[in-house]
Amino acid sequence: MELKKNEEYIVRIIDNGYEGEGIAKIENKTIFVPNGIEGEKVRIKILKNLKSHAYAKIIEIMESSDKRVEPECESNSKCGGCNLRHIEYDETLNIKKKIVENCFRKEIEKNIEIEKTIGMGFPYYYRNKLQYPVGIDNNGNTVMGIYSARTHNIVATSECLIQNRKAQEIANTVYKFIIDNKIPGYDEEKGTGIVRHVIVRIGIYSNEIMVILVTKQKKLPKEKEFVQYLKQKHPEIRTIIKNINNENTNVILGEKEEILYGDGYIKDTLGRYEFKISTKSFYQINPVQTEILYNIAIEYANLTGKETVFDLYCGIGTIGIFASEFAKHVYGIEVVKEAVKDAIENAKINKINNIEFYTGEVENILQELIEKKEIEPDIVFLDPPRKGSDEKTIQTLLNVKPKKIVYISCNPATLVRDIRMLEEKYEVKKVQPIDMFPYTKHVECVAGLEFK
Ligand SMILES: C[S@@+](CC[C@H](N)C(=O)[O-])C[C@H]1O[C@@H](n2cnc3c(N)ncnc32)[C@H](O)[C@@H]1O
Repeated sequence: MELKKNEEYIVRIIDNGYEGEGIAKIENKTIFVPNGIEGEKVRIKILKNLKSHAYAKIIEIMESSDKRVEPECESNSKCGGCNLRHIEYDETLNIKKKIVENCFRKEIEKNIEIEKTIGMGFPYYYRNKLQYPVGIDNNGNTVMGIYSARTHNIVATSECLIQNRKAQEIANTVYKFIIDNKIPGYDEEKGTGIVRHVIVRIGIYSNEIMVILVTKQKKLPKEKEFVQYLKQKHPEIRTIIKNINNENTNVILGEKEEILYGDGYIKDTLGRYEFKISTKSFYQINPVQTEILYNIAIEYANLTGKETVFDLYCGIGTIGIFASEFAKHVYGIEVVKEAVKDAIENAKINKINNIEFYTGEVENILQELIEKKEIEPDIVFLDPPRKGSDEKTIQTLLNVKPKKIVYISCNPATLVRDIRMLEEKYEVKKVQPIDMFPYTKHVECVAGLEFK
């Protein structure tokens, strides 16, 4: 049977895919059906028909899954944030485990048991970093919100179920100020306008708050009034920063910034440690789950106090600082210089003397540490960004042969790609998915690898 665009078909959803979407088959052709849940019978309309697969939308749910729930969020059908909001929370955890399993099964021959996903007790309002784009809608009005799926169209958002509530309140105050004062949002197509993003970061344990206004130009109209207004409405704000980004880019933050109020950073606590976080530094967005994640990573490392530990892609030094108590010495490597500055200060704040940090790309600095400084790691924590690590780094690790590698990943596809290379000399002992991003398609994993 030849599939046809715009034609309707009745199918059974046989699985949920990498992004949580339903998967159906018509004569061996895979059809991706967003919003479908495994087991459901649905009438679909083909939207895009490619040689090897097709995309469809649900027209009617004929047999509904008992895991289906009414999304609690009004913007859910438009917003690109929570792809799994139509599914019971516990089932989303099963789906995430399966996503990881499928990635492993596809790439790795040996059957590796994946642990059950560790969920969150209260999977709401968990994000400690809100970043809303500000732009212009079709009627020329300034809007603030969330991008709809796979586009840069902004869905106006004043309440979101995964953002910290105080951060949302503050973002709404910023929006009110720019609207009341007719400060225009940034028009991506024309490159005109002023305000590009509103970012609010909050230490959920310290309650310290940072507001960053990303602007296209250095001059922000009514800047003094803006700062006064925000401080008066939200005295709990610790620092306000203007970041200037006049590039035509998807990268949110620009190089230059000006502190308009406070010290330009906030602090938060994780476990028994305090961390300084500045604007450009990475900090895990769900601190409740982060503590669980780090403790599992440390457990997998099984440190005895005698080990030399490398914390690769170390950000502000969090994992290395958690590990320092159980290690002889820790070396952290991170490319963002501001994050390394924070990391050095974080070691001082927490009175940790057996840790040092290096600025630069892991792929280069790792080799330098090993060859020039003759430091060899016993244990390596590897926590790269979504694109994963790289061949040079993996090859260096294969040559230097640390006893254990604890790989922390927010992207199971690149995790298995890298593990496939490491498998030459390492055995995967455990893989633990953790729900760092409830109701979204994302899943975090810790994988424990041992030298064979
Ligand atoms: C997923 S974050 C992990 C940070 C830290 N381990 C944590 O738990 O907060 C990845 C970090 O890698 C850094 N990074 C990205 N590419 C890098 C590279 N080639 N070399 C060193 N660091 C890099 C990013 O700036 C970011 O801080």
